Amino acid sequence: KTPLRVEFVCSGLKNEDLPASSAPEFALVGRSNVGKSSLLNYLAGQKQLARVSNTPGRTQTINLFSAEKGEFFLVDLPGYGYAESSHATQAHWEKGMQAFFEGREGLFAIFILIDIRREVQPEDENLSRWLQNLGLKVIAIQTKCDKIHKSKWHEIRELHAKKLALHPSQIVTTSSDKKIGLSEVLKMMSGMLDS
Ligand code: GTP
Ligand code: MG
Repeated sequence: KTPLRVEFVCSGLKNEDLPASSAPEFALVGRSNVGKSSLLNYLAGQKQLARVSNTPGRTQTINLFSAEKGEFFLVDLPGYGYAESSHATQAHWEKGMQAFFEGREGLFAIFILIDIRREVQPEDENLSRWLQNLGLKVIAIQTKCDKIHKSKWHEIRELHAKKLALHPSQIVTTSSDKKIGLSEVLKMMSGMLDS
C-alpha cells in the first residue's frame, strides 16, 4: 500500500483556533513518547511532517492535517502522562483534551496509541472508556512492535484489548521505524469511513 497524501493545515491550542471540520477526522492520542507523531509521518510517507523527539512532551498543540486532498483529516495531539509533568500540567491536558473531544464536531474516530512493550495504564483505560461513552469510535494502535518478537504479539493484543474495553479486531500492531502495519491502518480507516 502507498502512504496517504497528507498536508499540514494548522496548529492550535483549542477548537476555536482550528477551522471548522469539513470531513471526518481521525485523532491520534496516547502517552507522551508513544509514537503519535512518528505514526503520522509513517502514514504520510514523510520524515518530518510532524515533529518527533526523544523528549516526551514534544507535541504541545493540536495539529490538523488533511489527507487525500481533504477526503478526511488526521489530528496529532499532545501526549499525556510523562513522569516529569506536574499535576497542574496533567489537569491542563485533561481540560484541553476534554474540550477538544467533546466540542470538535468533525471528530470521527480516535486512535489510542499504546506502546506494545507497556501495560495499558489507568489513563489509557479511562480515556478509552470515556471516549466510547461519548459515542466516538475507538481503535487502539500498538506502536514500536519492532521492539517485541512477533510470537508475543497475539498474546499482548488480547491483554491490551481487554484493558481498553475493545475487541482484539479493533487493535492494529505497527512499527513506524520498521514500516509495519500501514496497510492494516489504512484498511481500518477505509472500513470505518465506508460503514
Ligand atoms: P509526544 O509528542 O511527546 O507526545 O510524543 P509522540 O507520541 O508524538 O512520540 P514521537 O513520535 O515523538 O516518538 C517518540 C520516540 O519514539 C522517538 O524517539 C521515536 O523515534 C520513537 N519511536 C516512534 N515510533 C517508533 C517505532 O515504531 N519503533 C521504535 N523503535 N521507536 C519508535
Ligand atoms: Mg508528538
